Amino acid sequence: MKKGLFITFEGADGCGKTTQIELLKKYLDEKGIKNIQTREPGATELGVELRKILLHYDKPVSNVAETYLYLADRAQHVEFEIKPALENGTVVLCDRYTDSTLSYQGYARKQNLETIEKLNEIATGGLKPDLTIVFDIDSLLAQKRLSGEKDRLEKEGLEFHKALRLGYLEIAKKETKRIKVINADDTIENIHKKVVKIVSEFIDKL
Ligand code: TMP
Repeated sequence: MKKGLFITFEGADGCGKTTQIELLKKYLDEKGIKNIQTREPGATELGVELRKILLHYDKPVSNVAETYLYLADRAQHVEFEIKPALENGTVVLCDRYTDSTLSYQGYARKQNLETIEKLNEIATGGLKPDLTIVFDIDSLLAQKRLSGEKDRLEKEGLEFHKALRLGYLEIAKKETKRIKVINADDTIENIHKKVVKIVSEFIDKL
């Protein structure tokens, strides 16, 4: 039985969400709230292998194969990391989850959205986040923020990134209670304050 709280963080590559998750983790640690920070893909041993393929395989990958690899990573992650932590009363801070697959493989790769939703449901056994924060940012600005060598998904063009941004905004419109959108074109401190406000209000209502 689930006792913890499941919070996911979403957005395009370069939106700054990982920095924000780290700051929120520090905030929760200081408050003495038991929490873990995790991510997709790549949080389990199997996931580490899948992440290497997903981000660095240098031959063509079919859209369906790509989708199933993300889902395999998720199934392993849910069963062996997320569910046990939630059962243990832990707040789980997860960098990407089902909405990434809907936005990237659904909206950006243009695969059927209902099918992706069904596959997400199978991979997670129906485990939905309690709260999701989407960091929204102009696609060109997000791409400019990326440093170092780009991975397979980051190498996709501007149109791909624009499509997945619109995907996130569409999903957020459909689920206003679960998903909160934050403008990610702001200072790290201001965004952190907004994240803390959303999360604290959510926890207070429990
Ligand atoms: P990261 O760099 O934020 O860790 O994410 C890895 C990449 O994988 C990022 O470009 C988004 C992409 N991704 C998908 O395309 N589908 C998914 O389901 C997930 C979880 C990530």
